[in-house]
Amino acid sequence: MLYPILSYLKFLLTSTNQHGIHSPFVFDFVTKCLYDTRKYAEYSHLNAYRNSLLKREETILITDFGTGSKVFKTNKRKVKDIAKHAGISKKKQHLLFRMAHYLNSKFSLELGTSLGLATIALAINKNNKVTTVEGCKNTAEVARKHLDAVECTSVKIQVGDFEKVIKKFANTSFDLVYVDGNHNKESTLNYFELLLPFVHNETLFIFDDIYWSKGMTEAWKEIQNHPKVSVSIDAYYWGLVFFRKEQKKESFTVRL
Ligand SMILES: C[S@@+](CC[C@H](N)C(=O)[O-])C[C@H]1O[C@@H](n2cnc3c(N)ncnc32)[C@H](O)[C@@H]1O
Repeated sequence: MLYPILSYLKFLLTSTNQHGIHSPFVFDFVTKCLYDTRKYAEYSHLNAYRNSLLKREETILITDFGTGSKVFKTNKRKVKDIAKHAGISKKKQHLLFRMAHYLNSKFSLELGTSLGLATIALAINKNNKVTTVEGCKNTAEVARKHLDAVECTSVKIQVGDFEKVIKKFANTSFDLVYVDGNHNKESTLNYFELLLPFVHNETLFIFDDIYWSKGMTEAWKEIQNHPKVSVSIDAYYWGLVFFRKEQKKESFTVRL
């Protein structure tokens, strides 16, 4: 529990805003997307989706596929509690929507659907087809029900273990990949390597919780140093990487 806090203090000392970013691509991405303060109409739909989950009193039995929870002690959970504690925050959800929007993502992949809070943030972007992977069948069923209720038809939920599902991908590529589950070093590096054949020059990878543990930060550093990665942005709760060959290899630490 101490590690994320100490890491955050360090992050505050080393992070910056757009000042000092000389790369036009990164400067535009930070100022026009990450720091975009416009009130998008889509936000109210995302908030409504969240609120509908926060009202759900029913309990479901969870199959824990990841590294476990720092909050829940049992595998029986109320839907509203999953939305509150395991779901992506409102700020991150809006940010994810903006990234898919800014990059005009047409094919997105999410590892870790949970109740679909991030899924809908990606899918609410017109023409963005989203594949999302969830290991827990009961959780995926709730997500499907709620996404159907808001007619979110561009989402394909694949139920299964991340690694097994990725290994079945063929003849595809993704514009945006959001990795939000099974936060440990070996698995994160494994998913990164397995997904590399499906990236193109403009693909953005987003890794959640890079300071969840020392191991996750080690994985993040290895990903930053990977020869295929050009630009990386450490935003504390997210690590973002681009593969654009025309960019020189550079790392940024940006406060969101
Ligand atoms: C933190 S939650 C995802 C939150 C979600 N992205 C959102 O927007 O609210 C992580 C999810 O990943 C799933 N998961 C973790 N490890 C997995 C694995 N190895 N294979 C499949 N699903 C996994 C868990 O069951 C859990 O629902």
